[in-house]
Amino acid sequence: MRILFTGGSGKAGRHVVNHLLARGHRVVNVDQVPLNHPDVDNRIADIADAGQMFDVMAGWAGFDELEHGTGVPSFDAVVHFAAVPRILVTSDNECFRVNTLGTYNVIDAAVKFGVKKIIFASSETTYGICFADGERKPVCLPIDEDHPVVPEDSYAMSKVCNEVTARSFQARSGFDIYGLRLNNVIEPHEYAENFPAFVADPDLRRRNIFAYIDARDLGQMVQCCLDTDGLGFEIFNVSNDDHSVALGTSELTARYYEGVPVAEMGERETFYSNAKAKRLLGFAPEHSWRDHVGVAV
Ligand SMILES: NC(=O)c1ccc[n+]([C@@H]2O[C@H](COP(=O)([O-])OP(=O)(O)OC[C@H]3O[C@@H](n4cnc5c(N)ncnc54)[C@H](O)[C@@H]3O)[C@@H](O)[C@H]2O)c1
Repeated sequence: MRILFTGGSGKAGRHVVNHLLARGHRVVNVDQVPLNHPDVDNRIADIADAGQMFDVMAGWAGFDELEHGTGVPSFDAVVHFAAVPRILVTSDNECFRVNTLGTYNVIDAAVKFGVKKIIFASSETTYGICFADGERKPVCLPIDEDHPVVPEDSYAMSKVCNEVTARSFQARSGFDIYGLRLNNVIEPHEYAENFPAFVADPDLRRRNIFAYIDARDLGQMVQCCLDTDGLGFEIFNVSNDDHSVALGTSELTARYYEGVPVAEMGERETFYSNAKAKRLLGFAPEHSWRDHVGVAV
């Protein structure tokens, strides 16, 4: 597929781009900084500028495409990851502006150019726990896509807003638009760096509902979305199968979730349900932090 990817230079994006390249896709990375990869075509552009988004959506990928003499080819899919990725990076209102306007512009341009598969990054923060002022508990466990989304911070607000924007574009176009509520993205080198501390102090993972998503498994998830047509508008939690700490479900619920209704769950089963992605897309995460961290658990 010929894919326009926004935010491919970032932490999550570069792993997903690698995954897509390895599967033979052509990727144009639209970002404010280039991704240094020999097989990636970079376009420096600002998602918050509609003119630039319409231009890149209708642009050549590289000089080789000029050789055919048949005009600019269309994109087969858009994967939209570019964003201010959390609170406390920019001012709150700038985060909200870039993320909501940027997502509007990317999806608007994609739909108007007839790109029938659009995948965008939403976030676990929509559930309101991650960036809460103090502690907020889930309404129930595990958290699936039907759990209420009532966050209090500008970043998560922007992601909830983006999901509504995307749903409206899907209703008008009938195209496939899938939103991915990513849990905390973990790159392979972070297992050795960070997980011993998570094992020693599980409190460090409370705001992530003790979940995580391996960056390579996220690549698989995006490929699953590219492979599966006809779902219309859907939102998917994206996480690995297990908790990101050594404690089991019973101990975690006793320690952190007193009074929260908990469904029957396996001892290592993630609180951030990925069941819908498995059921509708065939997502099958392959990695676990336990494969990388030498602790007896
Ligand atoms: N990393 C996580 O744990 C996590 C969790 C949940 C959701 N997400 C979402 O996943 C996506 C990727 O996150 P990430 O961790 O890779 O973030 P990142 O900051 O590492 O990457 C984001 C990329 O977007 C680019 N960008 C920012 N503003 C832009 C603009 N105006 N125009 C063009 N490009 C712009 C940046 O240059 C950067 O390369 C984001 O949408 C983020 O909200 C990330």
